[in-house]
Amino acid sequence: MAETKGSGTNNFLCIYIFTIIFWNNIYVSAENGFIADYSQSGLDTIPKKLPAHTTVLDLSHNNISEIQISDFSYLNKLQVLILSHNLIGKLDFSVFQYNEDLEHLDLSHNNLQTLSCYPITSLKHLDLSYNNYAAMPTCLEFGNMLKLEYLGLSVRRIHKSDFSVFSLLQLNTLFLDLEDLSESISGNLPVFITKSLQIALPKNSEFSIVLYLEVNVTESIELSNIQGKQVNDLIMFLSQLNKSGRLLNLTLNNLQLSWQNLIDIIQNVWESTIEYFSIYHVTIMELEIILRSLSYTDTSLKALTIENAVAGSSSFSQDKVYRTFSDMNIAALSISHSGITHMVCPSIPSSFTYLCFSNNTLTDIIFKDCNNLNLLETLILQRNRLSRLTTVSLMTTLMKSLKYLDLSQNLLQYEDYENKCNWGENLVTLNLSSNVLSESVFRCLPVNIQMLDLQNNQISSIPKEIIELNALEEINLASNELADLPGCGQFRSLRLLNIEMNSVVSPSSEFYQTCQGIKELKAGHNPFACTCELRQFINLGKQGPMELVDWPDSYVCEYPDYLRETSLKDFHISEVVCNTSLLVTVVLISALVFMGVVSFLCIRFDIPWYLKMLWQWTKVKHRTRNNKPEDMLSNIQFHAFISYSERDSDWVKNVLIPNLEKDRSVRICQHERNFVAGKSIVENIIDCIEKSYKSIFVLSPNFVQSEWCHYELYFAHHKLLSENSNSLILILLDSIPAYIIPARYHKLKALMAKRTYLEWPKERSKHGLFWINLRAAIQIKLPISEEVI
Ligand SMILES: *[C@@H]1O[C@H](CO)[C@@H](O)[C@H](O)[C@H]1NC(C)=O
Repeated sequence: MAETKGSGTNNFLCIYIFTIIFWNNIYVSAENGFIADYSQSGLDTIPKKLPAHTTVLDLSHNNISEIQISDFSYLNKLQVLILSHNLIGKLDFSVFQYNEDLEHLDLSHNNLQTLSCYPITSLKHLDLSYNNYAAMPTCLEFGNMLKLEYLGLSVRRIHKSDFSVFSLLQLNTLFLDLEDLSESISGNLPVFITKSLQIALPKNSEFSIVLYLEVNVTESIELSNIQGKQVNDLIMFLSQLNKSGRLLNLTLNNLQLSWQNLIDIIQNVWESTIEYFSIYHVTIMELEIILRSLSYTDTSLKALTIENAVAGSSSFSQDKVYRTFSDMNIAALSISHSGITHMVCPSIPSSFTYLCFSNNTLTDIIFKDCNNLNLLETLILQRNRLSRLTTVSLMTTLMKSLKYLDLSQNLLQYEDYENKCNWGENLVTLNLSSNVLSESVFRCLPVNIQMLDLQNNQISSIPKEIIELNALEEINLASNELADLPGCGQFRSLRLLNIEMNSVVSPSSEFYQTCQGIKELKAGHNPFACTCELRQFINLGKQGPMELVDWPDSYVCEYPDYLRETSLKDFHISEVVCNTSLLVTVVLISALVFMGVVSFLCIRFDIPWYLKMLWQWTKVKHRTRNNKPEDMLSNIQFHAFISYSERDSDWVKNVLIPNLEKDRSVRICQHERNFVAGKSIVENIIDCIEKSYKSIFVLSPNFVQSEWCHYELYFAHHKLLSENSNSLILILLDSIPAYIIPARYHKLKALMAKRTYLEWPKERSKHGLFWINLRAAIQIKLPISEEVI
């Protein structure tokens, strides 16, 4: 029983319009609450210390045999408790007295033998079916459970008095497990006041239960285990159904019957008030050679669903069987999981708007050239043996109303060399998922399509030259082999793109340019390469404008290796690294700043001056090392001769000379000090110059204006010496503006221009180096002793 319910809900797609929601309480409360799932955990006892805010507790499929008050008393938010498929033998309902919110209690498939009558007044759903009660497990106290909507019971003996309690309850659904019934009253059963009645019929088919059902207020009946005599009881029951009754839904589970019986059942349903009729797990045992068919009288029936039908023999006209169904004058027909190999075209214009033949073995010839399905809006051919997309497309051209076509899970292919595809004009939703289609499928699509499901095919790219799909709003390309996010040039209206689980490494720029209309992009589980190109994509995830579905959990780097498994959300790369012109700018700016800093430092600390001094010092050192002083120094008596203007004598006498002669190793010839009487000043000067190793001129504006003329003469006569300016040392005491130097002093101008002078630094800190340099320039070992002077 539980199993057939399960398969019914799994195939939701096919039966969604008939689904009656029995268990809505579970799902509603599960959504807003805390769910603790301990099912199939091999538990012997109820776990201690469950979270106190648990609202849903699933303990099904364990080996729990006992329950104590302390097990649940602290779970005062508990709403749903599932204890089915355990070994509970005894239970006092007062253990739930502290669970004041408990609405749903499932104790089915245990070993309960006696019932406690404590009423849990908050309960809406109580399932006590498939237990081991000897008697009817109800007591009068149950009459106090006024909120009860669902009650499931196992019953072995039916006595009229046992059921009196039901007259107090306003049930939505009553489920009676009568499989092990051993004792029953004869004649009419008690009237069950419930909207929906579910009965698992006795294995012993001698008990005529169905025949004696009274269903005046019941809208839905679900009957399980119908075989042998019960088949005839059912036919009888259906034939007696009151035309004015309220029965709308009939569901039959686990049937074994002949074709003849099946037709009888359907025929009676045809003539009743029933609107939705479902048959699950039916075995048709004998198929006569000459099959009876249905008379299609006017009917209230809207939908017939058959699932898991098996035919016991194959020596019959299959065409007749198919025609029986295809000629039905109802709106919806579903035959699934039944191995049907074909379905014929209705012989007259059909009233079908919905057809579902999923999970069968239908081939391409289905509804070939079929002109009578003009009202059909939905066609589901999921999981069959369809193989040529061209043929299937041709089928739809005659279905003028077709909007929704599900061709998923077939073997469909389309090759470029095949015929053109033609599709029904009104097709808006097409499901081609789980086929073997390649990118050529884009040349075989309905032009007005709005929703296209192509997931799980073999598409590796989207060809450029395809028909424009201007109405397409949603496309699912998940689980294909795409290496790139496609552009949207051909899909102007696209709003939803699913490209999960492909091989997208990095989206193309075309995507960003053409896909601005997309609102939702699902692109998780792709092998992203976390490089510069991905930044725009990551920004999408962080700030839109389109929503990246499942961001950030499904988006991780695959390349480069050192970033594998890193979430895209946590991958950062700076703007500068990725932007070449920005990079160049930054490098240029840094270079400029560096040069600026260097220049500033040079000016601030006069570094060029130091460098110049150092250079001169090395030059002198080099020269003195190369010269052999003995050769030329035969008549040299002084290290240096100093010439200066009278006006600079203060500096010369108080600073220059004392500093040079400080350690007495330097001898200076001064024309005043070493004057030889009887010689003119110029002669004396020349004499001094000739006896000195070097001549030091202290240059200043004063000097240039007053003294220079003395030397012009000398320089003119001693060309040799003047050319060998090595012996000249010019000290620039004060800077000499060029205009001060008279035009005729060519020699001075040339010397100044060569900048071969030592500058007297104004800053004290530089004086040390100045002296070192000057000394180095005049330093020489003189052959004559000091006393000679
Ligand atoms: C297409 O069919 C598959 C199952 O075959 C289903 O999972 C998917 O949701 C369907 N797509 C649409 C849009 O209904």
